[in-house]
Amino acid sequence: MTQNKPYLMALDQGTTSSRAIIFDKKGQIVSVAQKEFKQFFPKQGWVEHDANEIWTSQSSVMIEALVNQDIRADQIAAIGITNQRETTIVWNRKTGKPIHKAIVWQDRRTAAFCNELKEKGLAEKIASKTGLVIDAYFSATKVRWILENVKGAKAQAEAGELAFGTVDSWLIWKLSTGRAHLTDITNASRTMLFNIHTQKWDEELLELFEIPMSMLPEVRSCSEIFCETTGDVLSVKIPISGVAGDQQAALFGQLCTEPGMAKTTYGTGCFLVMNTGKEAVRSLNQLLTTVAWKVGDEINYALEGSVFIGGAAVQWLRDGLELFEKASDTESLATSLDDNDKVYFVPALSGLGAPHWDQNARGAFFGITRGTTIAHMTRAALEAIAYQVYDVLKAMEKDCGQPTQELRVDGGATANNFLMQFQADLLGCEIKRPKIIETTAIGAAFFAGLAVGFWESREELQALWTADRSFDPNMKAEKREELIHFWHKAVERSKHWVD
Ligand code: G3P
Repeated sequence: MTQNKPYLMALDQGTTSSRAIIFDKKGQIVSVAQKEFKQFFPKQGWVEHDANEIWTSQSSVMIEALVNQDIRADQIAAIGITNQRETTIVWNRKTGKPIHKAIVWQDRRTAAFCNELKEKGLAEKIASKTGLVIDAYFSATKVRWILENVKGAKAQAEAGELAFGTVDSWLIWKLSTGRAHLTDITNASRTMLFNIHTQKWDEELLELFEIPMSMLPEVRSCSEIFCETTGDVLSVKIPISGVAGDQQAALFGQLCTEPGMAKTTYGTGCFLVMNTGKEAVRSLNQLLTTVAWKVGDEINYALEGSVFIGGAAVQWLRDGLELFEKASDTESLATSLDDNDKVYFVPALSGLGAPHWDQNARGAFFGITRGTTIAHMTRAALEAIAYQVYDVLKAMEKDCGQPTQELRVDGGATANNFLMQFQADLLGCEIKRPKIIETTAIGAAFFAGLAVGFWESREELQALWTADRSFDPNMKAEKREELIHFWHKAVERSKHWVD
């Protein structure tokens, strides 16, 4: 019996690494394995992954997570998958080989085409169907680019020989040795091809992007049996019974299950997502309306603000500029100063996401003098993460008509106490950091576990969420206003740089 098995495995396929995490019934982590993979930057603004390496890194960490703790595959009740969203893979159905590198969500190569769509006045039509803003971020224009630029791809696609998938679909395909071509509704809702209201692929949009319907995976809910792993991959058949995009999985993992509850994940980017319940709230403030999850027949929607560069700003200072050795050095560098001394960093390294949506903005430091030090630049990068989240939360509050009382946070950068306190100070609301900060993985495990009876109900899951630490706002209003004023001045100056 599935529910008698002691563990669940979550596959967390992120932008920079593949991870496998094994949880027990108490939601405790029993084993983790992680592998980074190569990032390709073939041209300015382009970002690619090797889909085969995504798979080999993911399958190797699955084995490693089992072996590390002497866990047998037949002790795993089910697998949950969560993934970097929007990243686009097109492969040949017969050979199973990708016909191009995966085009990553951060990739800007289709920005000019997106501008053409906006000029044609299609923003309203696309937003009303998909909940999305026209941007190179989403999968549709990336699929179109592959079909236009890979020799023979268009004809092959029309002949039904090609499959498209986001990373979840690709992993399901590989884990089922090519038997299943499926996705879940949250990943589908990020393609710009899916109508979030009818819950179906949209024929008119497929026509607009010249993508044949035959390329698309079948769309499922987040918590049901998708397929089983085949013997070629693991020695036993394990049901894959939970799938969700990483930000939606984190919302569920944070148990933000009531309308109005919100979380921010501080990863490569920062993603603020608020549950809006059964209502797909249309943003008047440049946020995305997206599917939070579907469990059984019940669908929940969310508002999302996606900030493209969050932790990646710190990574760039560390690896690109070599200003410090470890990301954890940033806390002491930032707190070595009493103030930012009006040094600001706008991390528009891939343009600006919500709520600015400027594909042509570029990164910039402002306010530099001869007295500016590495500490200032580091503090400016940390502060920039918090300012960006501030802008998104304020847009969200306008859409919802009420102030946020509490924000749950997760992701690597939440270990930085300076950042968390500064964030609480800026937002003027309580920030709660949970004990288990692997909320993305646990969200996928929750979806998978509910489908196979490993956990019985959401009430049972509620008991598994506990706060590790809260940060309360403690900054004078005048100071906050001054900081925000200078931040906005800096953001405006970085916009339209490469128009
Ligand atoms: O929308 C992109 C997002 O899903 C990527 O998340 O955690 O891989 O940076 P992450």
